[in-house]
Amino acid sequence: MKILGIDIGGSALKGAPVDTDTGKMLAERFRIPTPERLTPARMGAAIADIAAHFKWKGPIGVGFPGVIERGRMLTSANLHPAFVGCAGQALFAKATGCPVALINDAAAAGLAEMKFGAGRNFQGTALLLTLGTGVGSVLFHRGQIFPCELGHLPFKGRDAEKHVAASVRKAKGLSYAEWAGRLDQYLHLLERVLWPEMIILGGGVSAKHAKFFQYLHTRAELKAARLLNGAGIVGAALHAAEPAALRAAK
Ligand code: BGC
Repeated sequence: MKILGIDIGGSALKGAPVDTDTGKMLAERFRIPTPERLTPARMGAAIADIAAHFKWKGPIGVGFPGVIERGRMLTSANLHPAFVGCAGQALFAKATGCPVALINDAAAAGLAEMKFGAGRNFQGTALLLTLGTGVGSVLFHRGQIFPCELGHLPFKGRDAEKHVAASVRKAKGLSYAEWAGRLDQYLHLLERVLWPEMIILGGGVSAKHAKFFQYLHTRAELKAARLLNGAGIVGAALHAAEPAALRAAK
């Protein structure tokens, strides 16, 4: 199937048509920077701009950095607070005139990595973390997906993402060794309760894994995400390929 995948991130929205059978993007990504936090209505307009750029008429999958329940955002840690409680799936469908499926951004990245990337053909317990503006998380167990919010686990007195997100390394001027030391402690905490066999680290920083993987000492096999910045787009499209996902809001 051909589906338009859109990834809403902390600093931009990105979209591209995806072939969900191969996981390949069918055109150059179209990116709209968001230097200020967009309200839900303005986000809907920006999503409509991406659809218009590709003259899109079919299904659209959208990944959003917050908890999603039945087509609605329940949290918005790093985007506009008006998203809390917003019926995003219906709003984006109205803005674009297309059927829309909404999924958490890390869950989307996980779907793509498990199908086409670092977790391909793996059927055990895998944890995928996205390290970006915040920290996203999703678990897979024998092919079943479980989106979760491990970036908000209390860690050293604050939400873990305030210590270990890639954005924190830049904002605090930490070296890769310093930042990875924090990340290693956090991963040990997660291993203590979840016992994943495989941990996949995603987000833009996964392209730089050679700079910090040597500081991480997990029991689980550690892997860098393979689809890099494409995972969120490809995974959002994969989600929308499930007919039930497009109906979830009803
Ligand atoms: C949000 C998650 C999201 C993650 C990465 C966190 O702050 O709560 O839902 O997956 O950031 O964007």
